[in-house]
Amino acid sequence: MKESLVVFAVLVSVIAWRNGLVAKNLFLTKAPLPPAYYSSGDYRSKCRIIDEEPQLKYCEDATFWDLKDSDGELQDRLLIVSCDPNRKAWNTVMGPMRDAIPRGALWVYDHKSDKVEHVSFEGYPAGHDFHPLGLEIWPSFAGNASNLFVVNHGRHNTTIEQFYMSPSKPNQATWVRTLTSKYFISPNSVALTSPTSFYVTNDHLMTRRLPSILGEVLPMTESLLGLPLGWVSHVSITPTSSGSLSTDIHHTFSAIGIPFANGAVLSHDGKTLAVASSSLGEVRFYARNSATNALSLTSRVPLPFAADNIMFDDEGALIVAGHPHFPSLIAVSKNKTDAAAPSWVTALKPRQLYLKHPETGAHLALKTPSPDFDMQAPLSVSKRVPPARSHEVETLYQSDGSHFPNSCTSLRDSRSGVLYVFGLYTEGILACKP
Ligand SMILES: *[C@@H]1O[C@H](CO)[C@@H](O)[C@H](O)[C@H]1NC(C)=O
Ligand SMILES: *[C@@H]1O[C@H](CO)[C@@H](O)[C@H](O)[C@H]1NC(C)=O
Ligand SMILES: *[C@@H]1O[C@H](CO)[C@@H](O)[C@H](O)[C@H]1NC(C)=O
Repeated sequence: MKESLVVFAVLVSVIAWRNGLVAKNLFLTKAPLPPAYYSSGDYRSKCRIIDEEPQLKYCEDATFWDLKDSDGELQDRLLIVSCDPNRKAWNTVMGPMRDAIPRGALWVYDHKSDKVEHVSFEGYPAGHDFHPLGLEIWPSFAGNASNLFVVNHGRHNTTIEQFYMSPSKPNQATWVRTLTSKYFISPNSVALTSPTSFYVTNDHLMTRRLPSILGEVLPMTESLLGLPLGWVSHVSITPTSSGSLSTDIHHTFSAIGIPFANGAVLSHDGKTLAVASSSLGEVRFYARNSATNALSLTSRVPLPFAADNIMFDDEGALIVAGHPHFPSLIAVSKNKTDAAAPSWVTALKPRQLYLKHPETGAHLALKTPSPDFDMQAPLSVSKRVPPARSHEVETLYQSDGSHFPNSCTSLRDSRSGVLYVFGLYTEGILACKP
């Protein structure tokens, strides 16, 4: 008892030392969030939980599959979701690592028919684990097949599975190959740069795969101290001969020194990569050189939660979901009775930083953003973090965990206006109408 108090006191002081505000928001205090809030109206009438399929639960990531015509015009849009009902027995990021056998699954949801279907695998190797985290699929053009990449934290190492999916059979994925690399220490999220290349985040350098006590202590230390040991790589593949399963992988480090690098997403023009840093409670924006895939940091936006997965909507707003109270999420991952972690989803919109003088054409810097922002939300972001110069931040959804807990991903379809939210240890999908 005494020892654990000492350990606790040491941890608290180290956390306070590294960054008082982040530690306070993410680890030490539980934000006074409402049962639920949705920015576009009453959540009781606007939001519902799609939960007809009992196995559609514990979903870590989701992505839109855009079906375009030969001119690149969007014709239709499906939602692909990665879920793992076995997460409480196998989670290489948060633990435990007890039973890797029951596989996770992919699901496809069609908004038009309001139907969700299990995606069956063609050719997936028998005995190969499947515990999906981040996933992304290239759009389909004029009905052609799309490459899908899924991070898979299997029992020996974390790999990236390549599949292809065809719009004529959207509830089927054909396995192509498993990508492995000595640099895939703990891949988490992928952001495609072409049908055969992508950025991938590595959330930790010290993982739970380390032997015995090291695997318990070091990853948690890396998270709690916000140690800058995560990174983003760029990977491109070239099949060595057509039809062959063997592949050359070209790997480069694109951005290093990111504490708990989690979600990553490329902007629609391909010029910006956004990366969530969970243990620092922020999103980093990088300018991307599309010829070399090199990245350079342009801005950092503080958030009052551990940012998890992120996506750009059609208007270019970055939708960020995350965890406002990390200890609650740990309790959920340990299967504590009645544990539920709160949810928070925000939209980040680039701010206009300069005005052009109407006569001289000179650039005038706009004044510092107001510290009172996001004032519609019951608990406004501005109560917990200062404004960012580069982006406005607005709350889209928040909950103390009693309505839709453990938010880790959110997507907004600007065509239908629907906001989707997914929870790491939550049953079903939250869908809120505009
Ligand atoms: C979690 O706890 C419930 C009972 O509260 C139990 O039925 C279930 O098997 C537990 N899950 C794991 C993975 O331990
Ligand atoms: C589908 O077509 C697009 C556009 O022509 C192309 O970029 C993509 O590589 C094609 N996908 C496949 C799997 O052939
Ligand atoms: C990772 O595990 C796979 C089997 O799942 C194996 O084929 C591959 O060689 C391993 N990669 C590394 C880098 O250890």
